[in-house]
Amino acid sequence: MPTLLVITASTRPGRVGPAVADWFIGRVAAHGGFEAQHADLAQLDLPMLDEPAHPRLHRYTKDHTRAWSATVDAADAVVMVTAEYNYGYPAPLKNAIDYLNQEWRHKPVGFVSYGGVAAGTRAVQQLKQVVGALSLVAVTPSVNIPFVTQFLDADGAVTANDVMVAAAAGMLDELIRVQAALAPLRSGS
Ligand SMILES: Cc1cc2nc3c(=O)[nH]c(=O)nc-3n(C[C@H](O)[C@H](O)[C@H](O)COP(=O)(O)O)c2cc1C
Repeated sequence: MPTLLVITASTRPGRVGPAVADWFIGRVAAHGGFEAQHADLAQLDLPMLDEPAHPRLHRYTKDHTRAWSATVDAADAVVMVTAEYNYGYPAPLKNAIDYLNQEWRHKPVGFVSYGGVAAGTRAVQQLKQVVGALSLVAVTPSVNIPFVTQFLDADGAVTANDVMVAAAAGMLDELIRVQAALAPLRSGS
């Protein structure tokens, strides 16, 4: 079964990100097409990029870089669970992306975004520009959650509506198709 790396982008205390990621990982299990791995950037706790060489050279000097490299390398597809901060995406996600290069190449990426009225879509538009530089292939179907707090129950867990559930399934279907189509490129890279 292909591996899907689900990245939680926000890191602040009290964040909603892990609740959204937990819900989505539940949808991955229900879908059955991927084995999910979760990378919570708060737990990963990468310092601001501290490698001297360009990541494409793979001359990593730090254990945290090698560990992050191995995690991303093992993935066949990626989903970024992102908040929207000031119409963009959280800075720890940019840092985590920039740490690596070839590890991202020729993998499909989907987005689960959340926020206020724009449902995090402005953050996703920014992300699409950046992931393209790394030959990550953004899939079109996405999960965009408006006014995310309306979907949190008393325990802070996400209770999704039918639109969200269908969107998650549609994005996972597309990620399966695209990761299969890109597999020959990954094996040759
Ligand atoms: C620094 C900051 C900037 C924000 N900017 C936006 C924004 O531009 N658009 C939006 O819809 N929500 C914005 N929000 C509200 C967030 O969508 C909301 O707080 C969400 O829960 C953030 O995700 P997190 O809880 O995982 O950190 C902002 C929140 C913070 C903390």
